[in-house]
Amino acid sequence: MEGRSEFTVRYGAWALVVGGSDGLGAAFAEELAARGLSLVLIARRPAALEGTAARLRSVHGVQVRTVAADLADPQTVELILRRTSDLEIGLLVCDAAVTYTGPFLAPDIGEYMRMLDVNCRAFLCLMHAFGRDMAARHRGGIVVMSSMAAFQGSPLVAVYGATKAFLLTLAEGIGDELSRDGVDVLACCPAVVRTPHFLAEGNAAGRRVPLSLEPAFVARQAVRALGRKRVLVPGGMGKVARFMMGRLMPRQAAVGMMGRSTRALYGESVR
Ligand SMILES: NC(=O)c1ccc[n+]([C@@H]2O[C@H](COP(=O)([O-])OP(=O)(O)OC[C@H]3O[C@@H](n4cnc5c(N)ncnc54)[C@H](OP(=O)(O)O)[C@@H]3O)[C@@H](O)[C@H]2O)c1
Repeated sequence: MEGRSEFTVRYGAWALVVGGSDGLGAAFAEELAARGLSLVLIARRPAALEGTAARLRSVHGVQVRTVAADLADPQTVELILRRTSDLEIGLLVCDAAVTYTGPFLAPDIGEYMRMLDVNCRAFLCLMHAFGRDMAARHRGGIVVMSSMAAFQGSPLVAVYGATKAFLLTLAEGIGDELSRDGVDVLACCPAVVRTPHFLAEGNAAGRRVPLSLEPAFVARQAVRALGRKRVLVPGGMGKVARFMMGRLMPRQAAVGMMGRSTRALYGESVR
C-alpha cells in the first residue's frame, strides 16, 4: 500500500465519500481512512452514517464528519458545499446511486427523473465544484463509480446503465483535461459487487454469483489505480468478460449477453 504520508501529500488531508455509509462507499471510506485521510460521509440514513463514522474514528483515529441528505433533493449539493467550505477536499468519491432492475416501461417516469438527478446531475455538480478547487490547488483525485452496464446497452437496467455510461464518458473526458491540472480521475466499472444493497435487491444471498467481488477488494483496487489508470474493471474475471464483450463480440451480442446475465441473476421477476 502507498504510505499514509505519500497518499496525503498527493491528495491532501480530507476526502468526501458521497454514499459513504454502506456498501462500496463504506469500503472506500475504510480504505481512505487506513491511508490517513479524514472523511466527510454523505448518505440519507443518519444511523448508518453515524455507525460507519464511529467505527472509522475508533479504528483509524481519523476525523469523520457526516451529512445526512438525499442527493435527489436539488438543495443537497449546496448543503454539501456549505458543510465542507472550511475543508480542503482533496479526494471526491462519487459512489451513491439510484438503481432499478426490471422492464423499462414499468416504473413511472418520475422514478427515472430521480435516477438522473442522483446518478448524473448531483455528481456533475460536485465534480465541477470540487474539480475547480482541486485544479486551482494543482492536486486532487476523483473516483467515479460506474459499472460494466455502462459499456453497452443493458436490458432490464437500461436507464441505470445509461446513467453509468454518462459518468464513464464524463470521467474519461475530464480525466484527460484535469490531468494537466494535477488532478487524477478514475471511473471504476465492476460487474457485481456483494454489497448489502445488491444482496437484498438481487435476492442473491448465499448464492454464488459469477464475477461477484467483495466491496473491500473493489475499493482497494480503485484507490490503487487512481493516478495510474482512467478506467478500471476490477477483478480478473471482470477484465476477461470486458475483453470478450468489448473486443471479441459484436456490440449487439454483448447487449444480449447483458440481458441474459441480468435475467439469470434476478429471475422471473424481471422478465
Ligand atoms: N453493488 C454492485 O453490484 C455494483 C456493481 C456495479 C456498480 N455499482 C455502483 O457502485 C456504487 C455503490 O453501490 P452499492 O451497491 O454499495 O450501493 P448502495 O449500498 O445502494 O448505496 C451506497 C451508498 O449510497 C447511499 N445513497 C443511496 N442513495 C442515496 C441518495 N439518494 N442520497 C444520498 N445517499 C444515497 C447509501 O446510503 P443511504 O441508503 O442511507 O442513503 C449508501 O451509503 C453505485 O454507484 C453502484 O451503481 C454497484
